[in-house]
Amino acid sequence: MTETPRTVPGRSAPLAGRTALVTGGSRGIGLGISRLFAELGANVLIVSRREPSLLEAVRSITETGVDPGAVLHRVGKADSEDDAHASVALAVERFGGLDILVNNAATNPYFGPLVGISRSQADKTVAVNLWGPLMWVQAAWEQHMREHGGAVLNISSTSGIDVDVDLGWYGVTKAGLIHLTRLLAMELAPAVRVNAICPGLVKTDMSRALWENGEDGVAATMPLARLGSPRDIAEAAAYLCSDAASWVTGQTLAVDGGYLVRPSA
Ligand SMILES: NC(=O)c1ccc[n+]([C@@H]2O[C@H](COP(=O)([O-])OP(=O)(O)OC[C@H]3O[C@@H](n4cnc5c(N)ncnc54)[C@H](OP(=O)(O)O)[C@@H]3O)[C@@H](O)[C@H]2O)c1
Repeated sequence: MTETPRTVPGRSAPLAGRTALVTGGSRGIGLGISRLFAELGANVLIVSRREPSLLEAVRSITETGVDPGAVLHRVGKADSEDDAHASVALAVERFGGLDILVNNAATNPYFGPLVGISRSQADKTVAVNLWGPLMWVQAAWEQHMREHGGAVLNISSTSGIDVDVDLGWYGVTKAGLIHLTRLLAMELAPAVRVNAICPGLVKTDMSRALWENGEDGVAATMPLARLGSPRDIAEAAAYLCSDAASWVTGQTLAVDGGYLVRPSA
């Protein structure tokens, strides 16, 4: 599906003058968020592990008319403290601050029953999905947000709410991220708002195994009868990170095509 830039009459750049950092912003949901934020006027720093994907992401965002100077990339890992601090420092240095942090990168190295997961798989999932977001918040807080305020958005999952068999440990980390969101919202208020989104099944590389052999059948189980797109998540992200949500913190919004309210099997 081709995603067209959003235009809002009289309010076309609600993120103008803001700087956003998006972890895992080179593909999928993170790219969708980076693209929409740039279209809405923000400076965006995209961080992920592989430079070719980053370069392609920057190209695809700027080719639609976004100012090339407004989109930066940096190679970095979500579970690296050095990368967290250096990436925030880069945003501050190049754009003058960091107003929005989107903790989007995540991993799921294991699919199967909880009793079969190894220690290294479990540790890696916690490091990227749970410790990572907290560490990036620490870096943003220390270098800019404590003094200047800001908004944090954590990308969790419906697997952090529902019982998705075979996605168990990933779901545990995503449930933890929802709780972390609530705790940080209390701890960092009133300077920084902290919210979360729980995407349902969105058509990306990460979820490919869940939809590529029968997308129509999967869509038919969803109340809104289709899989999500990165743009669906980005629209909610733009709301939660903009002044339109200036009285919203500690909340988790499911953007899932009705998945969580479907009749149980
Ligand atoms: N797709 C879904 O159905 C779905 C549903 C619920 C929740 N979510 C959540 O949405 C978020 C994005 O998922 P997605 O489906 O968009 O995934 P994706 O298409 O696989 O994209 C993942 C992005 O994160 C980067 N990345 C992966 N591991 C990283 C790491 N350790 N450090 C830094 N960057 C890393 C990837 O680039 P590199 O590989 O180059 O690093 C890529 O830019 C995740 O938090 C995921 O749990 C997705």
